[in-house]
Amino acid sequence: MKYKIQKNTKNYFQNNECVIIGIYENKKIKKNILKYNLIIQEIEKYNFNGKINTFLIIKDINTKIKQDYILIGCGKKKKINKNKFKKIIKKSFNIIKQLNYQNILYTLNNLNIKNIYWKIFNIIKIFKNKTYFFQKFKKKKLKQYKNIQINFLPNKKKEYFTIKKYIKKSLYILKGIKICKNICNTPPNICNSLYIYKKIKNKFKNCDVKISCLDKKKMFSLGMNAYLSVNKGSYNKPLIIKLKYNNNKNMLKPIILIGKGITFDCGGISLKTSQNMHHMKYDMSGAASIYGIIYIISKLKLKINVIGILACAENMINGNSTKPGDIITTLSKKTVEIINTDAEGRLILCDVLSYIKKFHPKFVIDIATLTGSCLIALGNKINGLLSNNKKLSNKLIKSSHNSGEYIHQLPLFKKYKKYLKSNIADIKNCTNKSYAGTITAACFLSYFTKKYKWAHIDIAGTAYNTNGATGQPINIIIQFLIEYIKKKKKNEKKI
Ligand code: BES
Ligand code: MN
Ligand code: ZN
Repeated sequence: MKYKIQKNTKNYFQNNECVIIGIYENKKIKKNILKYNLIIQEIEKYNFNGKINTFLIIKDINTKIKQDYILIGCGKKKKINKNKFKKIIKKSFNIIKQLNYQNILYTLNNLNIKNIYWKIFNIIKIFKNKTYFFQKFKKKKLKQYKNIQINFLPNKKKEYFTIKKYIKKSLYILKGIKICKNICNTPPNICNSLYIYKKIKNKFKNCDVKISCLDKKKMFSLGMNAYLSVNKGSYNKPLIIKLKYNNNKNMLKPIILIGKGITFDCGGISLKTSQNMHHMKYDMSGAASIYGIIYIISKLKLKINVIGILACAENMINGNSTKPGDIITTLSKKTVEIINTDAEGRLILCDVLSYIKKFHPKFVIDIATLTGSCLIALGNKINGLLSNNKKLSNKLIKSSHNSGEYIHQLPLFKKYKKYLKSNIADIKNCTNKSYAGTITAACFLSYFTKKYKWAHIDIAGTAYNTNGATGQPINIIIQFLIEYIKKKKKNEKKI
């Protein structure tokens, strides 16, 4: 589908074979609308009441130019809210889907919700979600709706440029989310660390994102033994991919975003059960979200200094695999007794969290499918948040409010750090108890993040569902970065 804004508000009916109009329960429609009489007639004839989930298709058979109307029930005008809005939009899509229009004048962006950007973003998001199919591996492809053009109607002339800008912004964000979803959904026999690197290299070819990477040899020479211990039993090599984007020379310290990129997690010697093990191809969702985020930042040309890091590896078994009981020396020199090789995410992340100190980060956010416990605690719609900095976590929570994605903070409870004490090493990689798994995992990471402000987002519950990858928490992070820039700008003006 293509999304445009209608320029000619007077003549607009001529190019569209179909007009979608929202009707509230009181049936009032604007008199200046073309075919006003026909619409009123049909409403009366079919006793159309405007209730949510109802619709009426009016075929205009009298004129030379074929032009139909679809009335969508919007309920009581006073009672419309964001949830109802989404319902109405979904209904409109289901109707469009069944009919054969190519040019559609879409006026539902004018329903009475204040935030125009929110409306445009959510309409396009719903349409994109409903037309997203990962069918690269299907011989018979499903219908793609590529030729349908949705033309938004501005409420006033002034709105034309605003909506135009918002369509562009929404499309970039949703493209970033799509890129993320596609790579997450790609099977693990194809999507390994090198594949991700090549994809990124290709995508950022003529772009202001600088790509570099640390290979196995480099990691070894630096002493990233925790990271390497995870990949020891794999044929595929590990890779740390760095994406640098700096569009603000005044921002000396970079924001650092890190994503867990385990392209398959069988658990290692602490082998997972086979039920749903195939879901562990999604264990690179954190890294994929960083890819999407950097893509969006660069397309929106945000005035910001960011480094994205994709921590890619594979957790497999062979005769060389790390064993439960092994002790390794991390990059920070802290020693770790590996109790469970399935707690591998924290092992790759701890070395990256130490490595990035040299960039003097403004703050650090890591995104990881880290613990199954997060799904138990928060379900599959809420991301987990743990942080050593109240301001940072509060800002992330605030940014989630309008993003359509949810986040909830769990305490980084200091007392639980003790559970990770080991008798023979400095710490161990997990506790004996299965309580508070999300918190103890973050406690492990917190041993390595003392030098900077840090937030950890556990996406184990939200990164995928039965329909595949979701692209979470990209929109939270993008909204967060946009608000961060706005605030910075405001403060600069004050001085
Ligand atoms: N990748 C998993 C976490 C996960 C589980 C993500 C389910 C998505 C869905 C992680 O590496 C893991 O295995 N964590 C263990 C930690 C435990 C061994 C301390 C877990 O959650 O069971
Ligand atoms: Mn694991
Ligand atoms: Zn994992």
